[in-house]
Amino acid sequence: MSNNESWGSRVGLILAMAGNAVGLGNFLRFPVQAIQNGGGAFIIPYLVCFLLMGIPLLWVEWASGRFGGRHGHHSTPFILDAMDRRRFWKYIGVFGIFTNLAVAAYYCYLESWTLSYVWNSATSVFHGNSPEEVANYFGDYVTMANNNYMPVFFWLICLVLNTYILSRGLSGGVEKAAKIGMPLLLIFGAILAYMAITLKAGEHGAINDGTVGLNFLWEPNFESIWNPKVWMAAAGQIFFTLSLGMGSIQCYASYVKKKDDIALNAVSAGFMNGFVEIVLGASILIPISVGYLGIDRVVEMTQNGGLGLGFKTLPYLFDQWGGVLAILAGVFWFGLLFFAGITSSLAMGTPVMGFLQDEFNWRRKPAAWMFGLTVFLMGLPAVFFFQYGVFDEYDYWAGEFSLVVFALFEVILFAWIFGMTKGWNEINTGADIRIPIVFKYIIKFVTPVMLLFVFIWNLPGVWDKITNDKLYKQIADAASPEEINTLNTTITYVNFSRIFLLLVFVGICYLVFVAYRKRMKEGRMTS
Ligand code: ALA
Repeated sequence: MSNNESWGSRVGLILAMAGNAVGLGNFLRFPVQAIQNGGGAFIIPYLVCFLLMGIPLLWVEWASGRFGGRHGHHSTPFILDAMDRRRFWKYIGVFGIFTNLAVAAYYCYLESWTLSYVWNSATSVFHGNSPEEVANYFGDYVTMANNNYMPVFFWLICLVLNTYILSRGLSGGVEKAAKIGMPLLLIFGAILAYMAITLKAGEHGAINDGTVGLNFLWEPNFESIWNPKVWMAAAGQIFFTLSLGMGSIQCYASYVKKKDDIALNAVSAGFMNGFVEIVLGASILIPISVGYLGIDRVVEMTQNGGLGLGFKTLPYLFDQWGGVLAILAGVFWFGLLFFAGITSSLAMGTPVMGFLQDEFNWRRKPAAWMFGLTVFLMGLPAVFFFQYGVFDEYDYWAGEFSLVVFALFEVILFAWIFGMTKGWNEINTGADIRIPIVFKYIIKFVTPVMLLFVFIWNLPGVWDKITNDKLYKQIADAASPEEINTLNTTITYVNFSRIFLLLVFVGICYLVFVAYRKRMKEGRMTS
């Protein structure tokens, strides 16, 4: 076995785990989700989901990972296999490799925008531009309008950087990146949050105080608590932001020593993510945008998505601050996004590498480059056919749907098949805190029921997605033949991207099958 990786220190492990969780989801996705779902009202479902699904699933994933690592497994197909003798679990575990590859395929492109915008900010590209010019720049950039291939250049830099860091190993690469990236992220975030909250109406062209946006975000509107859609959005945000149901937490935890704490570590990483999301994530983008654009305009801009809000507005708004401050603010904002992104995408690489190292005796470096190459190949459609919805399609199937499916299976396996007696014992081995016993029952009953509910509730949406319901409705309402043409092309591309993702999933199943046969032949038991 060529896999003898380990974490260098506890601080490094926690920072890497927190870095895995803290990502673009905290700064770009959370504020927009909160606005779209009733501001202050969103936070209640969010916190309930955090306590009843997020924290319990963190313990389940950390415990499953450390358990698998003890048996020499570092990726979910064989981690799950070690927990029960039934053969199909290893194919459920395929989600824990597939999701990482498919998410990394679009996530690294998003990450590369932040790097390119650091460069743009440092070189004052947006200086003197109108708000429309800044917004149009973003639209043209991501779709590579006018044959501008800068996005490809930055995307490749990002892929190579990820691959290089991964090839340096856990303690020499991932942990070092987290130790540098996370503190810088916190410092940049704190400075920007301070500047956002102290923004004054009338200064540098702002029309509102920074606190207006903050109040708007947190103003209680309790009616929306009764809306199941808000709960689904909160659950989805908890999954994405904590990187649950992905397989990356299990992989990181599989390198924890068998008597080392996981109970406190899991909570620390989870709360650190929560702090960054609720405190920093909420205090930058929305307060500054509302300060300059007003509430109505910001709400309008987040109606259809809103991922681009931070790219479309902030460079113009920062420019109003003038001089060095404008440059620094841009570099800090996109820099913190880049650190958030890369510490998450690195985590997506490790399960794939762990699988190749454990099962096919690959060495670390080739395994890292294989991850980079696969993400490159899978990313090509998302990058080049971005405007035809391929990027969003990857996000839906890998970044939303698969997370819930995998989390549901793994909690059932952990609590009901592996069994809560063994499971509770596993979570508490080496624990530096006493976890309230109530969580034993939450993990056994509440979390699976909530997950089942989320899964069933989302099924009609999945069906609408498969049948391209929304796109056909848009075709029916389309005003021009060109529009119909574009929508038809979009349907073709999203259909192909789904088939492609399915084929990748089946391909990984085949590799797991080959690995299993190999183990049998070599007389290496799987559990
Ligand atoms: N957890 C990562 C994020 O929030 C994927 O972006």
